[in-house]
Amino acid sequence: MVKHLIAPSLLAADFGNLERDIQMINNTEADWLHVDIMDGIFVPNISFGPEIVKVAKKYSKLPLDVHLMIEKPERYIETFRDAGADHISVHIEACPHLHRVIQQIKTTGAKAGVAVNPHTSIHQIEDIIEDVDIVVLMSVNPGFGGQKFIYNTINKIKALRELITTRNAHALIEVDGGVGQQNAESILQAGADVLVAGNSVFSAENPNLAVYALKNIGIRGFYA
Ligand code: DX5
Ligand code: ZN
Repeated sequence: MVKHLIAPSLLAADFGNLERDIQMINNTEADWLHVDIMDGIFVPNISFGPEIVKVAKKYSKLPLDVHLMIEKPERYIETFRDAGADHISVHIEACPHLHRVIQQIKTTGAKAGVAVNPHTSIHQIEDIIEDVDIVVLMSVNPGFGGQKFIYNTINKIKALRELITTRNAHALIEVDGGVGQQNAESILQAGADVLVAGNSVFSAENPNLAVYALKNIGIRGFYA
């Protein structure tokens, strides 16, 4: 049985103790480390840039899943790849030439993802679905951690799962924002492959246990 994957989000870590927090994630059942890059333009918040990605690369045993919430991401693909990104996802809303950017990411050797805001319909990725390795479905409006899960995402996961199956595509469905023990089962049942978890892991009394609980929900296997 193929299990779903867990990607703790570094945005919720203690920035004064990044090495400690990354090592802590290394010792959990987490699969990827999710790294949120925000430019203060595409989203209202500014997080961090390639130098922090290098720090994450130095200490993380897990693949770095870099989520670019920036305008004109094509300017920085190679920079983030060189900094250590294993996966690079760009927003469809920031890319008028998405197909070109996806090819650009693949040329660097990274896995290529497209991220989709809550208001963007799944129909808009129909013509790119066969080209991407990951679809990041935003279940909050991007920009901040600790927000409430937008329930309509469940319908979008189902629609996307159907699209992927119909097209025989290989993209993984990653759900990002407001994910925790309270909704993980519904998200997985709807057809998600990867759960991003920021606050539900880093703010937990026992982050190790929080990852374990998310990882062992155990209903995967329907479409494995
Ligand atoms: C939101 C980011 C998320 C965020 C998730 O803009 O893309 O990855 O870190 O944090 P939580 O899990 O706390 O909603
Ligand atoms: Zn993210």
